Formats: sequence, C-alpha cells, structure tokens
Amino acid sequence: MKILLDTSDVKAIKRISGMFPVWGVTTNPAIVAAGGTPLFDLLPAIRDAMGGKGTLFAQVISPTVEGMIDDAQKLRERVENLVVKVPVTPCGLKVIKELTAQGIPTLATSVYGAAQGLLGLLAGAQYVSPYVSRIDAQGGNGPEVVSELQSLISTHCPEKELVAASFKSPRQALECMLIGCKGITLPVDIFDLFIADPAVGIAVKQFEEKWQNTFHQNNL
Ligand code: E4P
Repeated sequence: MKILLDTSDVKAIKRISGMFPVWGVTTNPAIVAAGGTPLFDLLPAIRDAMGGKGTLFAQVISPTVEGMIDDAQKLRERVENLVVKVPVTPCGLKVIKELTAQGIPTLATSVYGAAQGLLGLLAGAQYVSPYVSRIDAQGGNGPEVVSELQSLISTHCPEKELVAASFKSPRQALECMLIGCKGITLPVDIFDLFIADPAVGIAVKQFEEKWQNTFHQNNL
C-alpha cells in the first residue's frame, strides 16, 4: 500500500519522511495557496524534503484546455517525473487524453463519483483520487465510492491506481484502508493522529521506569 502526504508543509514532509517511507506528496491549488509559497519554488523544496525520492503531484489551475496543457508542461519542466493532477470535467477529460498522448502522466482529481473516476482513467490518467470527506459532507458515502471505484478498476483497468484523498478524520482514512484501498493521501494532522494515542507514550514510559528501577540504566 502507498501512503502519501497531502500538504505543502515542507518541514512536516521532511519530518515525516525521516520516520516513514512516504511514497509521494500531493498538493492542490488551495493547499499551495494556504502555504503561501509560489508553486514553482515549492515543488523543488518538496522534492528536496523527500530526499530527492518519491512522486510529486501538482494540479493545473487554468480553466481552459489550452491553459491546462500549458500549466502541465510548465509543471513537468519544473520537476521531472511530476504527475499532473487534472479535474475530471469535460475540459479536463480532453486534457487528460491530450497529455497522455504527449506521454505526460496524470491523476484524475476532483472525483465525487465512481463512474466519473473511471472516465478519467479510461481517458488516460494513471491515478484517480476520489474525495472521501467531501463526498461524505454532501450526504454521500466516501468509502463506498472508493470501494465501487476499486471494483471498476479491477474489472476494467487493473494497471491503474486509486489514491483516495480529502480526509478530515483518521477514521475516514482507516475505513478506506479496511476496504483494501491501495493508495491514500493524508493531511499531516491525520498522519500524526494515527500515532498520537497518549496511552502509547504512557506505556513506553512505564517500560523505561521499570527497567531503570531494576537495572539502573536506560539501555540494554
Ligand atoms: C488531494 O490531492 C486533494 O486535492 C485533496 O485531498 C482535497 O482535500 P480537501 O477536500 O481537504 O480540500
């Protein structure tokens, strides 16, 4: 399974990739705007924070087909091997088809339904990101859409990959993992919450104290 970080926080990317094999980093225009660093400065900084490893994903911003293709080419010039995120809209499908013909890898994003996601993949995208918490917020069922999309991928295009996105709680992410989701992009706070149970720290402290009380040292 692949775990990615969904953030523009370079310090957090460095911290977490120092303790865990983060597979990649995703951003979107809102995430980049929140951080304030211009995207073309941010992307090399993220790549460096990952130690030059990992796959980076950045999204086009233009509303037109020509503009999105231009955005995609600029992104690829800035970071080699970057995967371009393209929303699955009528224009976006055309862009995915054209970028695929140019050999530029894409991720089909802004996905709220399984059939929408499948169209993005069949147009040529290698990855697809259903928006779990946004689907839930609309009264839908995010994990169910993930499950349907996985099933469509297995049946129609098993070489393609799902990267579930848009998480607001660890439980939402866990539910996707439980249904067998093979890729997931997590905001930093959700990653940290997976390992933040205070009981863990208390248990480790107790081990240290009991060892110290008997052997009067804190190593083996
Ligand atoms: C991922 O790449 C998506 O753009 C992102 O997870 C969307 O998250 P949001 O719903 O919190 O904006």
